[in-house]
Amino acid sequence: MPKRRDIVAIVLIVLPWTLLITVWHQNAITPLLTARKKGCKTNFFHCFADDRLSGRSRNTFIYKDCSSQRGIVEVTRTEYVYSRPHPGLMFFPPPRGHPTYSRPVQKAELTRLANTLLHVSNLHWILVEDAPKRTKLVSHFLQETGLNYTHLNVETPRNYKVRGDTRDPRIPRGTIQRNLALRWLRETLNVNSSQPGVVYFADDDNTYSLELFDEVRHECVGMACSLCGGLRYESPKVNTLGKVFGWKTVFDPHRPFAIDMAGFAVNLRLVLSKPQAYFKLRGVKGGYQESSLLKELVTLGDLEPKAANCTKILVWHTRTEKPVLVNEGKKGFTDVNVEI
Ligand code: UGA
Ligand code: MN
Repeated sequence: MPKRRDIVAIVLIVLPWTLLITVWHQNAITPLLTARKKGCKTNFFHCFADDRLSGRSRNTFIYKDCSSQRGIVEVTRTEYVYSRPHPGLMFFPPPRGHPTYSRPVQKAELTRLANTLLHVSNLHWILVEDAPKRTKLVSHFLQETGLNYTHLNVETPRNYKVRGDTRDPRIPRGTIQRNLALRWLRETLNVNSSQPGVVYFADDDNTYSLELFDEVRHECVGMACSLCGGLRYESPKVNTLGKVFGWKTVFDPHRPFAIDMAGFAVNLRLVLSKPQAYFKLRGVKGGYQESSLLKELVTLGDLEPKAANCTKILVWHTRTEKPVLVNEGKKGFTDVNVEI
C-alpha cells in the first residue's frame, strides 16, 4: 500500500507537467485551426478568381489540403499582389503542334508564364498555337488558369518551319501566329473602339518582371531587354530629352528598329488605326521582323522610352534547355498518356 505522503508527492510532480504540456499543445495547434477555417470557406481557385475580379489589391490565401476534413499537417500562407493597373491586352504567340515544336517543355513554359500573368490585372491573353488545330493540352491548361484568354491556332507552313535544332535567322518564329492575333484584334474590336489597351508580344520562354506590365501603358515603348544579341542587355540609345536616337546593339545597329520583340509594346488604338500593319513573313532578313511591323506604325521620334529611360531591365530573353530524352522509346517505360 503506498503511503498517503507518497501519493501527494506524485500528484505534486505530475500535475504541473500535465498542465505545462496541455498549454504548450494548445498554443501549437491554434494557428493551424484558424488558418484551416479561413482557407476552407472557399476553395483555392475560387478565392483566387474572386479577388482578381473584384480588383482587391492584396489577397492573402491559404492553400494545401483545405478540403480535407482531417488534421492539417502543414499550412502555407502566401501573399499575391494582383492589382497592377494595367489596362492591357496581351498577345502571345507560343507553342505549336508540329512534332519538332510540340515539345516536352511546352507545358512547363506555359505554366511559368501563366504564373506571371496571374499577377497582372485587366489582362487578356491571346494565345496562338502553331498547330493545325487547338490542342487539348493547351485548351485544358488555359481553362485551369482562370485567366481571361482567347485561344487561336494557325500552323506555320512547312517551308517556314525550323528544321531540327538549326536556328536559321532567316526563318522567323511565331510570325504567322502574331499576325493572326493582330487580325483577331482588328476583327473583334471596332476601328474607333474606345477600349483602352496595350499590345505586347511575348515569347513563351522569356522571363517577365511584373514591373514591365506597369510600364507598358502608353504609345509605343522601347525598353531594355536583357541577354539579347550576345550581350548582357540591348537597349535603345536615349538622349537627355528622353528621345530615342539609336540602338545599343552589336548585331546590325542600323536596322530601323534594332529591338527585340520583347522590347516594345504598342498602344491598342495605334494597332486598330493602322489596319495594314503586320509582321512581314517573306523577304525579311534575320532580326528585321520587329522593324517590319514598327515601320508601319511609328517613326523613331514616336518612341517613348520606359523603365527609367531604358536603364532598367524588365525582361530577359531566356531560353529553356532542350531535354535529352535518351531513355524514351524504350518500350513500356513511360506511359504516353501521361501529360507532361
Ligand atoms: C527571338 C525573339 O525573342 C522572338 O520574339 C522572335 O519571334 C524570334 O527571335 C524570331 O524572330 O525568330 P527566339 O527566342 O530566338 O526568339 O525564338 P523562340 O522563343 O523559339 O520563338 C519565338 C516565339 O515563337 C515563341 O513564343 C515560340 O513558342 C513561337 N514559335 C517558335 C512558334 O510559334 N513556332 C515555331 O515553330 C517556333
Ligand atoms: Mn524565345
